[in-house]
Order: sequence, then C-alpha cells, then structure tokens
Amino acid sequence: MSTDLILGSQWGDEGKGKIIDLISHNSKYVVRFQGGNNAGHTVKFKNEQFALHLLPSGILHEQSICVLGNGVVISPQALLEEMELIQKAGYKDIKKRIYISNNAHLVLPYHIELDKESEKSLKNNKIGTTCRGIGPAYEDKAARRGIRFNMVEDTPAFYQTLKEVITYKNKILKQIYNSETTIDLDECYETLLKQMEIIRPMLCDTEILLFEAWKNKESILFEGAQGAMLDIDHGTYPFVTSSNTINGLYGGAGFAATRINKIIGIVKAYTTRVGSGPFPTEQTNEIGDFLIEQGNEFGTTTGRKRRCGWLDACALKKAILLSGMTDIALTKIDVLDELEEVKICVAYQDDTGKQYDYLPNNIQKTLIPIYKTFKGWQSKIAGITEYESLPQEAKNYIKGIEEILGLPICIISTGPKRESTIILDPSYN
Ligand code: GDP
Ligand code: IMO
Ligand code: MG
Repeated sequence: MSTDLILGSQWGDEGKGKIIDLISHNSKYVVRFQGGNNAGHTVKFKNEQFALHLLPSGILHEQSICVLGNGVVISPQALLEEMELIQKAGYKDIKKRIYISNNAHLVLPYHIELDKESEKSLKNNKIGTTCRGIGPAYEDKAARRGIRFNMVEDTPAFYQTLKEVITYKNKILKQIYNSETTIDLDECYETLLKQMEIIRPMLCDTEILLFEAWKNKESILFEGAQGAMLDIDHGTYPFVTSSNTINGLYGGAGFAATRINKIIGIVKAYTTRVGSGPFPTEQTNEIGDFLIEQGNEFGTTTGRKRRCGWLDACALKKAILLSGMTDIALTKIDVLDELEEVKICVAYQDDTGKQYDYLPNNIQKTLIPIYKTFKGWQSKIAGITEYESLPQEAKNYIKGIEEILGLPICIISTGPKRESTIILDPSYN
C-alpha cells in the first residue's frame, strides 16, 4: 500500500499522464485535486492514444477508481464529452469507477466567455490562458459566488441563485467587454439539470471516501495538473494558472499531508512553457526549434506551439524546496538523442553580477543562465527499457541531474508509450 503524489515540476506538460498511467496499474484510487480541463495529459499504449483533460490518468486501468476532488473546477459539458469518448473507445463501465466531490465548483458557459474576453482585452499582455474558464471559476469560488455540484437542484431557490449570477456576468460581458455574446439563463439552467442527471450518481463526499481508502490500506495516487512554476502563489505570477499546483492536494482533496508517502516530481529532460511569462533558459534559436520538432511540443489542450529551452535546475530546485519532493521521474530524454551537447542551467546571474541558485520571486531583472554542459550521446535511446543499455553520455546526464537536484530518479521515460520506460525503483514495476 502506498499513497503517492505526482506533481509537474516545471511549467506543465512534463509527461504526467504517461507516468501516472504507467504506475496506476498498482493503484486502487487515482485522484485529481486542482485545475480543470486546462490540463491535457496524454496516455499512449499499443495503438491507442488519449488526451485526458479532467478524468484522472488511471481511467484506462479497469481496476482503478477515479476521483475528482473538491479542488477541481469541473465543466459538466467537458466532463461528459470526455466520458463519452472513453466509453466509445471500449471502456464501458467507467461511470461506476468515477467519484466526484459534491463540493467541487462548476465551470459554466459564462466562465469560458469571460476567460476569452479577459484575454482579448489584455492585448499585448495576455496571460495566454487555455480559455477554458478556469481562472473565472476559481475567481467566483474565492468571491463566494461559485456554483458547487451540491447546490444544483430543480428548485426556485437554485434558479434564483443562477439568475443573480448570470445577470451579474452578463453585465460584465456587455458593459466591461462590449461582448456580443451573453448567457441565456433558461438555456444554462435546463442544460445543467440534464447534465446533472448523469453526474449526480457519481457525487459523494470524496474526502471521506479517500480517508476510508487510506484507512483500509488501499493504494492511492494523487495526480497534479499543470506544473510547479504555474502555481498561483509560487509561480511566475501573473503568468500562472489559478490554483495551487504545488501544495493543492491538502485543500483540494481534503487529504492530510502526513499521509503521503512519496512525492514524485515529473521532470522533462529539458524545459517547455506554453503561454506568456518568464522563461530564463528559453532557446529562441535552432536548439529551440529542434526541441519543438523532436519533442512534438504542441499543446495537448490548445494545440499551441510550446516554447522550449534547456533544463532549468534553479526553477526545479525551487519546486523541490516548496513541494517536499522525494523522487524524480525523468521524461523525454530520448528527445535529446541527436544533440552534440546538452545543458543544465545551474545558476543565474543578473545585470549587477549577483548570482542566484534558485529562481527568485522578483524576476523583473534579466537573468542570464549559467550552464553546465554535458556531451551528447548522439545515438538512439528511444524505447530503451534497461538502464544498462543507455550510452555512457546519457547516464552522465542522468547522474548530473540527480546530483544537481539532490534527489533520486525512480523512473526514466524513453518514449511516449507505456512500454518505453526504465523503472529504477522496483516498487513501480
Ligand atoms: P502532461 O500534461 O504532463 O501529462 O504532458 P502532455 O501529455 O501534455 O505532454 C507530454 C507529451 O510528451 C505527450 O505528447 C506525451 O505522449 C509525450 N511523452 C511523454 N513521455 C515521453 C517520453 O519519454 N518521450 C517522448 N518522446 N515523448 C513523451
Ligand atoms: P498540464 O496539466 C501547460 C498554462 C496556460 C497559461 C497559464 C494560465 O497538461 O500540464 P489557465 O487556462 O490555467 O488559466 O492558463 O497556465 N497552463 C498550462 N500549461 N500545461 C498545462 O496543464 C497547463 N494548464 C494551464 O498555457 O500560460
Ligand atoms: Mg499537458
């Protein structure tokens, strides 16, 4: 029995979906606790490929119970569409394996419109959100005007609540943003009630479900979305998402910190970022282009090209100190196969000559990365499953990462598929 937390340790898209799918065959429960369908977690095996946005990445294992905790913001439409897709692919019984917190907040059509309009109005200062309505939904949660699943009922009282919210939102859409789109109250209400007919049987007090599971010594895997540097508090604000990606589990699933055994940070062997914001090791040159092409770095949710650069140990060290990470799963190392040399940023220097070991909170200044350079292996490691079969130069890079970050690597991913993996910690076999 193990209770592990998996976190993205960079700016998202580290390969969380691949690793969670891989190790969740050992888990009875797989649990999302923050974010919403801004996430895009890819799972590939045999000839199948799935992009999971809301459903936990354990959903493709028949034994796994998938939980959406109270901290996830859930678009009923996106949820039902995703469930249908998975069911059509042959996973018929999933409804019986999904539990959703009745306290989870809803992402409704006005959140999506407001996200789009807010981005449009920012012109050259766009955050580059996924426009899935995630920020506006968390905004409502904090403002105590959010709609939670357990509020939705076919009653005059709920109709009145929704009416007040939609009247307010339509005012913002029309008067602040000059938007031509407004939300129709009756349509929103009727649609929601229909969606709830399917969703209601899946609702429960998920924190109690998870506590009981833990008491009964069941294995639980918590699945972080986004990445540490997109954390609303500790990330590169304002170019962040709107949830706590690092420590969100404790509030977002109602699960106590002392019950977690391992915190595994997923680290991509280089860095990517989609959307605006600081990125000290970004390579806007042929190296960046190479990484985009070799790594197929296009967003799983929005299809946007991801910005690419060298591995940034200063940002990673910050993620480690904040999260209490115990292990690393290294992904996409095969993308570096052809490079003559590979670099890791081990410190930054600002224009006054001051050096930094960690990504500082105040990144107004230009930070010049200081790199440690490793010789490339220039041979194909894609698909390798044994550590011994790796070329010495690749082993040196892997050892270098462990030494610089001070954490052991438990899994090395050498390709997008489940089977392209080197498992170093036998507990994940
Ligand atoms: P997530 O959001 O962290 O789950 O990551 P995404 O699924 O958005 O993006 C990771 C991409 O890299 C997906 O297309 C995966 O199929 C792919 N991927 C995952 N691990 C590896 C790997 O080790 N090598 C390669 N080449 N691709 C990988
Ligand atoms: P996964 O779970 C990468 C980024 C967006 C934008 C910022 C705010 O697949 O790693 P939001 O829609 O959340 O308000 O957008 O956060 N972002 C992600 N980047 N991977 C993700 O999820 C992301 N989810 C949000 O690009 O910069
Ligand atoms: Mg992703």
